[in-house]
Amino acid sequence: MDRTFEEYKKIVDDHLFDFIPNVDTKSLTLYEAMKYSLAAGGKRLRPILTLAACDFMNGDIYEALPYACAIEYIHTYSLIHDDLPCMDDDDLRRGVPTNHKVYGEAIALLAGDGLLTSAFEAIHKDQMLYFDDPKRLIARVKAGYTISNGAGVKGMVAGQICDIEGETKKYSNTMLEYLHLNKTGALIKSSIRAGLYIGNADSDTISRFDKYSEALGLAFQIQDDILDVTGSVEELGKDVNADERSNKNSFVSVNGLDKAKKRLNELTEDAISALSVYYDNAEFFTKLALDLKNRNK
Ligand code: IPE
Ligand code: IPE
Ligand code: MG
Ligand code: MG
Ligand code: MG
Repeated sequence: MDRTFEEYKKIVDDHLFDFIPNVDTKSLTLYEAMKYSLAAGGKRLRPILTLAACDFMNGDIYEALPYACAIEYIHTYSLIHDDLPCMDDDDLRRGVPTNHKVYGEAIALLAGDGLLTSAFEAIHKDQMLYFDDPKRLIARVKAGYTISNGAGVKGMVAGQICDIEGETKKYSNTMLEYLHLNKTGALIKSSIRAGLYIGNADSDTISRFDKYSEALGLAFQIQDDILDVTGSVEELGKDVNADERSNKNSFVSVNGLDKAKKRLNELTEDAISALSVYYDNAEFFTKLALDLKNRNK
């Protein structure tokens, strides 16, 4: 317990490639393209949340590591596909040219496919270690399920289609929150849940953290929308004003900057109060909500 964000990040970065299946030498370009976007950096927020949630339950965070890394593979695939010309058409990601700018669209598409499927290969490979231990196997099946659910057609993919269809429509706040909760909130919620399951959390703990993660996930995407307008390319490592260019429904385009900031503050308070029963024991998570509200990258 009591590790810092940076300590978790180092563990993730040190082991990030451990769970990628060995790629045949004839497919090295695929591996290179997958590695390119994974190695480019990023905050590693989602896998850190998985490890921290497992740690909160006094679980062995190294047992949560395959799930944490799988989530980062899924997140990285989502960025590669999100940047494609047919999606948001972006040239810069994590401070370097986007995957398709370097490898071309077809390989970028396949690198995303490779990362997404590697995630589930890593998860199932881990689960096969626990056939003789039903209790731990069940926890890991639940972790795998929440990850597929958060990444899938009732989670991130649902959010992404809502985002794309929104380019030609003006959304209400209800629709906008649905979009953000799915495209970004769902995987964040699953990241925490996966760690809690591996740490054997009870249902009350899971409900409290669900409330925390729903507020945090929405707040995170609101800050992403704000930074698209107020941030710098150097800090963010991606282009700014991309939402306006693509006519996106963002918190800023729908509500204006002031209201977006107000909602961000409210949600940060909601996230913190969801864990108030834990007092200082949940300090990592409450401090993180504040740090993410104030982030500039
Ligand atoms: C960017 O996510 C895409 C969103 C869901 C907002 P991050 O801001 O976590 O990107 P990285 O992983 O740090 O590059
Ligand atoms: C992307 O949202 C969410 C994903 C699921 C990848 P954005 O399109 O706003 O993310 P950025 O701003 O390109 O990182
Ligand atoms: Mg997008
Ligand atoms: Mg984008
Ligand atoms: Mg954005």
